Amino acid sequence: MCGIVGYLGPKQAYPILIDGLTRLEYRGYDSAGIATLEEGGKLRVEKKEGKVANLEAHVAEDIPKGTVGIGHTRWATHGPPSDRNAHPHAGSKGRIAVIHNGIIENYESLKDLLSDRGHTLVSDTDTEVLAHFIEEVMTSTGLDLPEALRIALKEVVGAYAIVVLDQSQPDRLVAARKASPLVIGVGGKNDFFVGSDATPIVAHTKNVVYLEDEEVATMTRDGKLSIRTIGDADVTPEIQAIELEIASLEKGGYEHFMLKEIYEQPRSIRDSIRGRVNLQRGTTTMSGIDENWGEWEKAQRILILGCGTSWHAGLVAEYLFESLARIPVEVEYASEFRYRNPIIRDTDVVLAISQSGETADTLAAIRSAKDAGAHIFGVCNVVGSSIARETDAGAYTHAGPEIGVASTKAFTAQVAVLTAMALHVGRRLGRVDDGVFMRLVSGLDNIPGLVEQCLESAPAIGEIAKLFAGAENALYLGRGYQFPVALEGALKLKEISYIHAEGYPAAEMKHGPIALIDEDMPVIFIATQDDVYEKVVSNIQEVKARGGQILAIVTEGDTQVKSLADHTVEVPRAHEALAPLLTAIPMQLLSYHIALLRGCNVDQPRNLAKSVTVE
Ligand code: F6R
Repeated sequence: MCGIVGYLGPKQAYPILIDGLTRLEYRGYDSAGIATLEEGGKLRVEKKEGKVANLEAHVAEDIPKGTVGIGHTRWATHGPPSDRNAHPHAGSKGRIAVIHNGIIENYESLKDLLSDRGHTLVSDTDTEVLAHFIEEVMTSTGLDLPEALRIALKEVVGAYAIVVLDQSQPDRLVAARKASPLVIGVGGKNDFFVGSDATPIVAHTKNVVYLEDEEVATMTRDGKLSIRTIGDADVTPEIQAIELEIASLEKGGYEHFMLKEIYEQPRSIRDSIRGRVNLQRGTTTMSGIDENWGEWEKAQRILILGCGTSWHAGLVAEYLFESLARIPVEVEYASEFRYRNPIIRDTDVVLAISQSGETADTLAAIRSAKDAGAHIFGVCNVVGSSIARETDAGAYTHAGPEIGVASTKAFTAQVAVLTAMALHVGRRLGRVDDGVFMRLVSGLDNIPGLVEQCLESAPAIGEIAKLFAGAENALYLGRGYQFPVALEGALKLKEISYIHAEGYPAAEMKHGPIALIDEDMPVIFIATQDDVYEKVVSNIQEVKARGGQILAIVTEGDTQVKSLADHTVEVPRAHEALAPLLTAIPMQLLSYHIALLRGCNVDQPRNLAKSVTVE
């Protein structure tokens, strides 16, 4: 949410900032802006509503110059998308420019204080209040930027990752964070790169410092990086090497990131289970669990926390852990969990699932569970992310960077890792029968090849999409392990095609949603051959009797559902616990093709942004 980039060094800042903003656009794309210090230390701020391309066009005739600068791509919180509300925001004297990701919660009281002191604000944003406030502290105390920033931030309530440029200090860039991520890239030529994540940095350096909460970093042109906490303690910067490859941030010949990421799934699932599931030895390996085995051994309950697609992966995990490890599971929306005084015991294991590792709701829920004494295990995709760092132990998903705003490969990677975890815990607790364990180990090892086969149905799904693209509503139905996949299918459709879609347990349909069914209502059934197959067949009959248009995802060779449904898509046969990894694929392809046919921006759907770092 909101992309941040900064540069200080010997090169021209503009190309680095624009390249960084283009890579960061998946975090927000309402407006974009940059600020540089031009010849003579003149602060130049340029900003434009809309995509980064609009900003580029706006400055094309007169490219901003200077070797220090900051850039921002916005996901609106306070004030609608407009040139005026775009970042960077300057202070009243135009001395500093600020870019910000997060929300300043006490901005109204700061605004009152500033207006008493004669400040006039020109935007609707909380960020402009912050810029004026920092400048006010600088002016009234005479302190230089890093110190004034530290003092100012003591008064600020909320979440922020900010970078500040000071006109009077062209050799310095200052950044700070609290509850919103910020990464500093340390280049080899006395140059620094700042990013809200590593994507704008990796093209330049692999050496990074992850700023921690309440830290203020000062970068200077002679290559020095110093960090102080808001509480005035010195911190020694810890440089880490990141493994991210630049090619993984490109479309690689695909029309959209989402399509590339859908097709990457055989690889991303393979990478996520590699070293964790060993077919030859017939074992699973989960060092994060083994190192904390005491917590898992005594677990009376697993509490799963996540949002959106990650919450759906958590629902699949509920079936997996209850069936394989026989531990009761509760799956919670992270955003609800922390505000309802939850009961947490020291026999609970909390499992937090997040692709980005930065989702503010999930992070806040983890913190409250931690305060209550729970052991926290994280399943994250982004290495070094806040959630990965704040959990007691964890397992990375190794899906690689996910740029498309609609999550695809992250979901299947999460489910694959969670399957390996449930198997591992179940086996160690002696609750999985050897035969079932080996069937699942071998089945999981086989899944990447089967996902490959699922992808072959893309052309047929493209044809079915033509029949559904004009729909206004859609219903997704599944039972057991396939119920969370139905929810995920509906989420994919609504977020990228703007068709209203609902996911429901198939049997629940008759308790209400059946009233919606008529000949204009596409109903997507996940009807693979498992324990509840016959029940789902009955639910299909009920929809057919009411004229709904039925698309069914079926196991290959199925004849019964094929004779009932208007359209079917086959997936290979797999154990029911592994089938979500296959049925998710046609769901993703269907929403992708429908969104394309409706002319929607698949990678950057309206109102959304990757990595939701505000509550
Ligand atoms: C849906 C989607 C979102 C995220 C949710 C949680 O396609 O991408 O629903 O799943 O915002 O994000 P993470 O997993 O990064 O915590």
